[in-house]
Amino acid sequence: MTTDRASGVVPKLSGDIRPLIPKLGLRNYWYPVVADRKVGSRKPMKVALLGEELCLFRGAAGNVVAIQDVCPHRGARLSEGDCHYRGTVACPYHGWVYDEAGKNTMVLSEGPGSGVCGKPGTEARVYPTRTLKGVVFAWIGDGDPAPIDEDVPEEFFDDDALVLTGQVEWRCNWEVALENSMDSHVNYVHRDAFVVARNGFIARGAQGEHPIFVGNGFGGDVAESNYLRRSPQHDLYADGREWPKTNYRRYWTWLFRPLAERARRHIPAPKSARWCGGHHLPGMFRTEFAWDLYTRMCVPVEKHLTRVWYYHCVRPKTALGRWWQTVLYYGLHRWIIEYNFSRQDEKVMVNQRYDTPEKLSGTDAEVIQWRRLVVTKHYGGRDAAFEYRNPDGLAPDAVPLERVSVRYLQEQARRAKTTTSR
Ligand code: FES
Repeated sequence: MTTDRASGVVPKLSGDIRPLIPKLGLRNYWYPVVADRKVGSRKPMKVALLGEELCLFRGAAGNVVAIQDVCPHRGARLSEGDCHYRGTVACPYHGWVYDEAGKNTMVLSEGPGSGVCGKPGTEARVYPTRTLKGVVFAWIGDGDPAPIDEDVPEEFFDDDALVLTGQVEWRCNWEVALENSMDSHVNYVHRDAFVVARNGFIARGAQGEHPIFVGNGFGGDVAESNYLRRSPQHDLYADGREWPKTNYRRYWTWLFRPLAERARRHIPAPKSARWCGGHHLPGMFRTEFAWDLYTRMCVPVEKHLTRVWYYHCVRPKTALGRWWQTVLYYGLHRWIIEYNFSRQDEKVMVNQRYDTPEKLSGTDAEVIQWRRLVVTKHYGGRDAAFEYRNPDGLAPDAVPLERVSVRYLQEQARRAKTTTSR
């Protein structure tokens, strides 16, 4: 296998390509760093991601600035310093002061006559940042940043969208935390999760969808999916055994079905296929059948530590609706998705051996393609061509929403019904 990343040559993508997946994630993408409200104006703070250590402080206009968390002088941590002057951070050791361009503007231990300021090598590296819907994103890479809307979901640029976010940390690698999202584990690991009890078992694995490449990742082909399994609560095997062994879950599903149907109507469909349910670079999984349009963004921190961000999107029509959705999220939905559901994944993943042989079948097509996409972008760069062709030859930027979004189809059907009944 060729593994020369510097040459931009993409290795042969067959067999077990897990060792080629970058342990610290894909560089040259925009990543979520911190909730804007957590950055104060007097003290800087530290955030680590992709093996980088960032010091965050407020710029002169109140924007969040990210610079390297190592002082160019003698390596003290800028995040342990102070913001004495607006738009700057001072190192806690000898008092070198950096502005938001990373320039050393003062040396507080030497006074105004210091000849150090502005000399080559005294500047700190600055990471481009942008705050959207209360989340600070940073460009982790080299050179000029790519357009941020290529890496951050469309709802962050939608004035009508309410985006609520949360984050937790999982003690496993980012790829482990992410790649199971479209496989069949849901119906087993999450069989007692509130969201599955409410919805019934969904179609995954052999009963599920095959991937459609949409440019920045994969959606599932809804034409191949029955969305919910034909027997969503119970399976009967040929030898007479049943799974689940007890059938009480069907009462939960029955009880919550009206609520589930009602809640589903409020889940916004994605506006473009590029942001449909499925896997998306640099580390996202999105789905339409939680309580909202939901994204799990896995940010590598260290080799065995992942910061998992959750983006929940709804589009309430009124201020009261926005308030109600916010209350619902913090009072209920957050627990249902980020703890009750996601902690079940974490429990399995933290002890999963990722270096042992595995048996992937054709039904794991999403996992295989996702790995190939990640390795291609790691070795060939974010603009590297990906070898996958959609089964019907559909160009990634020509995939229509009706091919990859159940909610879009449901909305179209509802609108058609409303028009006919008028
Ligand atoms: Fe930062 Fe000396 S180490 S000012």
